[in-house]
Parts: sequence; C-alpha cells; structure tokens
Amino acid sequence: MTIALHTRPPVLVTQIPQLDAAPQYRPAEPSGGIARIVLPSGHLAYHLTRYEHVQQILTDARAIRSPCNAEDGASFLPTITPAEMLLNNDAPFHGRLRKVIAKDFSPAGVAELRERVVAVTQQRLELLPQAGEGADLFGLVLDEVPATVDCHLLGIDLADRAYYRPLSHTMQIASDEDVPELLRQFWAVYGYLTDLVTGARPTLPGGLIQRLVAGREESEPPLNDKELVGILIGVLVGGDQNILTVLTKALYTLLAAPGLWQTLVDNPALIPTAVEELLRLIPLGTISTFPRLASEDIDGPWGLIPAGSAIYADAFAANRDPDAFADPLVIRLDRQGPRHLQFGYGMHNCMGAALARLEITTVLQVLVERLPRLHLAVPAAELPWVHGIILRRPARLPVRWTVTH
Ligand code: HEM
Repeated sequence: MTIALHTRPPVLVTQIPQLDAAPQYRPAEPSGGIARIVLPSGHLAYHLTRYEHVQQILTDARAIRSPCNAEDGASFLPTITPAEMLLNNDAPFHGRLRKVIAKDFSPAGVAELRERVVAVTQQRLELLPQAGEGADLFGLVLDEVPATVDCHLLGIDLADRAYYRPLSHTMQIASDEDVPELLRQFWAVYGYLTDLVTGARPTLPGGLIQRLVAGREESEPPLNDKELVGILIGVLVGGDQNILTVLTKALYTLLAAPGLWQTLVDNPALIPTAVEELLRLIPLGTISTFPRLASEDIDGPWGLIPAGSAIYADAFAANRDPDAFADPLVIRLDRQGPRHLQFGYGMHNCMGAALARLEITTVLQVLVERLPRLHLAVPAAELPWVHGIILRRPARLPVRWTVTH
C-alpha cells in the first residue's frame, strides 16, 4: 500500500482549479511586529496564521466572541446573528448551551446515522444510469444526502426541505449585495425553526427537536425558545449546507486529480485518513474562523495584542503552516499529521465535526465501491461555482462512470 501511495507524482492543493478562494480581507500595516488585516466590516484585526498561535488564541478566554456580534463589531459577515447562537456566546454562558447537545454530536452519538447515510447514497445512485453520461452527481446524489440525514436527525418532514433549503443556502452565502434580502431570508429560516420548537409546525417523534424541547427543564435555568432555536439553527443549516459544501469540494478535489481518486479505489481503507487530509485543506467558504476581540491585553508568542483589538485566528493558514505539516500544500492521503484546525479549536470547536466526518467518509466509501471508474465529464477548470462566505463549492459535478454491484 505504501509503495502505491508514494510512487505517484505529488498533487498540490494549489493545482486544483478554483479550490482556493481569494481572501476576504485586505492587508494592513503590522503593529508591534504582528501582521494585521482589514476585515470586510472595516475593522483592523491582528492576523495570526501560525498553527501554534491559532491553537493558543482559540483557547484563550480573553479572546471573546460576543462583542463581535454587534452592529459595530469586527466581522466577516454583513449582518449580526442572534445572540443565542453558540458562536456568539462566551464563558460561562456558552457551556450551558453547548452541553445540551454534546452527547448527540459526539462520535458515538452520530454513529447510528451511518446506515442512513449509506441508504440514501445508494438510493440516489440508482438514478445515475437513467440520467446518463454527464449526469450531475452533485444534484442527483450529494445534494440529497446531508439534507435527508439532517431531517431525520432533527425530526423534520422531508417535504419541508423545499421551503427552508433555499433560505439556508442564501444564509451561508451571506452576500453583502442585498442585505435586506439576506436578513429577510435569515429571519424566515429562524421563524420556521421557531415554529418547530413552539409546536406551531409539527415535528416527528424521536428527533432532536422534540428531545431538546422535552429536556429543556434540565438546564439551569431552563432553556427558553430562543435558546433552543439558537442551538438548533446550527444543526438545521450546518448539518446540511456545511457538510454538503465540504463533501462536494472533497469529491471534486479527488476527481480533479484522478490519481487521488484511483489511490482511494486501490486503498479504500485509507478513506478516513484521506478525509482528514482533505478537511485540513478545504474550508467551508472564504473564512476559516470568526473574529475575536481581546477583552484585555493578550501577550503571547506572537507579541502583544492590546485590549479592544480584533483578532483573526486564521485556521486556513495554520493548516498550511510548514512548521506543523511537512510539505503542507501536498495532498497526502495517508498523512499522519497533527490534528488540523478546520473545525476550529477550543470551546467553539465545531459542534458538528463528528457528523461531518461520518457523512463525508461514508459517502466516499460508497462512491469508491460503487463507482470506481468515476471521472469528471468536463474539465475541472470549467465547472461553475457558487461563491459565498460560509458556502463556496462547485454548483454541479457532471460525471462519467461505470456502476458495479
Ligand atoms: C465540514 C464541515 C464543517 C466545517 C469545516 C465546520 C467548521 C467550523 C468551525 C471552523 C467552527 C469554529 C468557528 C470559530 O471558532 O470561529 C465551527 C463551529 C460550529 N459549527 Fe461547524 N463546521 C462544519 C460542519 C458543521 C455541522 C455539520 C454542524 C451542525 C450539525 C456545525 C455546527 C457548528 C456550530 C453550532 C458551531 C459553533 C460551536 C460553538 O460555538 O460552540 N458545523 N464549525
């Protein structure tokens, strides 16, 4: 196995057409020897890009989130979001909300969803032959998988997807071109979820929504509707769009460099490691974490960040830090590196990481088994993309294949 992996010419992530996005910030004058940037909100921010620095700042209790989610706050987003969302909370309030769903989103908690991921993927693959050569694997298969699994997890009627998915898509693109329309769509998703939580719209028994509502008194003080919606909106949107985005880009990367796909076909046991490597290199959109504010002076190996300054812990750059990852731009599907930071780090580390890993790994396992001779049907550089801040991915994946049973 090792020989097969190392005889291939190395593929650099920068060789994959369109994969890396242009940064959403502008360079600014350094201060105190620390790099700085200008965020889309106009704020100057200290820019930490080294692996160790990003890890350290993301676990520093003085680098806080809540002041960034204010009308005049340092942000990549054109709007603020509800204060109850996990990412907008700092210690100690954050822990009260996060612990409510910690078990459901642990690796053991999501494991039972694997069979459903397999079933939906297999089912959707049945549609490929009738679609014929050039079929869109994104629209026919990928686009259905996380959304369907997420409905099951939450206890939502599958028919509701037609209503909320276009809204959550807009929400993750988060374009500043029409902010009133962005806000309208955001509050429509929020209103939809509020109706599910309050019972104004029906939910299915056994789903996360009913379980969280039933268990709300176990929190101290009990969770109110807004807090439940603040937790669940991350599941409704992240459990669908975020997984779909990275799954699509991971598969696109493997197919854009066919030697990578062939490596997995020849070595399917490598898929979990390969997924970590692809995750290391592939962010959701054009940003990799949300800005923090220094609540007091923060002295560290980077220098001194004065109180009141904005900070961008750049996990995208840290994941390509040569001090942490040898030949960081090389896609090594068998890489045994340190833990990547694509899911963040510290108390805000991604709540859905285990679910994302499970779904991306499982879908790739099914595809490798069912479609070993899978190819893009058009040159990778010609594929259309959707560009957004938290969602950036190919809009279609036209493919050629030979199905095996
Ligand atoms: C591969 C897909 C995903 C990636 C790359 C990703 C990335 C991230 C990152 C980098 C953070 C931390 C941001 C920061 O510290 O500023 C985060 C937080 C979060 N993610 Fe994800 N995410 C993904 C999938 C998901 C899924 C599937 C869900 C829900 C089921 C989800 C829900 C959340 C929530 C709620 C937070 C905030 C956690 C907190 O503040 O405690 N994400 N994600």
